[in-house]
Amino acid sequence: MTDTPAMDIDPALAAAAREKTAARFIGTDLAHPAVAALFELSVMRLAREAVADPGRVKPTPPPPPGPLQMGAAEFGPSRRLVDDIVPPPLPRAFLALQEVLGNPRSSLRDIAAVVSHDPGLSALLLKLANSAFYGFSGRVDTIERAVGLLGAAEVHALAAGAAVSTLFRDNPYPDLLDIPLFWKHSVACAIVSRFLAERCGQKNPERFFLAGLLHDIGKVLLAVAEPEMVGMALELARRDNLSVLRAEKHVFAFDHAELGGRVIAKWHFPDALALIVAGHHDPQLCGHDPEPALVHVADMVVLALGVGTRPDPLVPALCPEAFASLNIHPQDLCLAAAELDERLPPLSMAFLETGTR
Ligand SMILES: [Fe+2]
Ligand SMILES: [Fe+2]
Repeated sequence: MTDTPAMDIDPALAAAAREKTAARFIGTDLAHPAVAALFELSVMRLAREAVADPGRVKPTPPPPPGPLQMGAAEFGPSRRLVDDIVPPPLPRAFLALQEVLGNPRSSLRDIAAVVSHDPGLSALLLKLANSAFYGFSGRVDTIERAVGLLGAAEVHALAAGAAVSTLFRDNPYPDLLDIPLFWKHSVACAIVSRFLAERCGQKNPERFFLAGLLHDIGKVLLAVAEPEMVGMALELARRDNLSVLRAEKHVFAFDHAELGGRVIAKWHFPDALALIVAGHHDPQLCGHDPEPALVHVADMVVLALGVGTRPDPLVPALCPEAFASLNIHPQDLCLAAAELDERLPPLSMAFLETGTR
């Protein structure tokens, strides 16, 4: 997508695009230069889309009322504890791979041998190694070569994402959470997280790919474990005009970020990853640690660009201290948008086809 100024766009269409985008940014501080840059980018992109499809600038209809007709006080809070929700175990094939990747004496051949026992992961790695996402020249036709080209950290991130997504491949409650859109949002957040990690000079930026991929995993667990209560939270958010996050806290006394952090720890991923996931909506909970701040900013960028679990998602507020801690410029967020345009289609296609069907 081109982001050159929209000189040729009908002013009425441009004004409608601005109005609709403003409704999505209602909870943000447009005086912040990073938010303002994303807002202008989103207006321009929507206006360009509206040239081909004028219906795009019509206001988004509010979600339909849910089946529950109660007062807010009747929604809870619940006595459900965050540790009551137990995640399913990770697939054995992934645990075997994690073991071989964690052993410094493992050779490329050892890693490839374990990957080969998992047909889904083998197909994903080959598909990605041959996709425009990585841009390797020449055909990659063996697992050993794919593992060698991708590197151990990348293989670990992709395998973890594939392993977790296969646990939640069905879409049992599409009204609560659209699983294909959920993974598309997660892959988008993974791409932008890694891009921003590179821009701000983080060590091992591929770690942030996995953090972005798993940042909202608590949402899936909630929807699968407690569909009725998630339905209540969504209804409460709709009726009382609350963010879903606040509504989750009211109904569950915790939210998907806290639950996600616990689950990551229960799956024995590194503590740093659990901290990032737990802090992605409130990075100040983690002090001045820039790692949760980075995924917080990436999530906001992705939602500003419209890649959410619903069409035309609301944009969450940007924590200004989190943005400042990254030492990046507002313009970097526009570069992240261009990176997403290029990388999301091939990666989400390969990922969704392999992991979630
Ligand atoms: Fe989230
Ligand atoms: Fe998110």
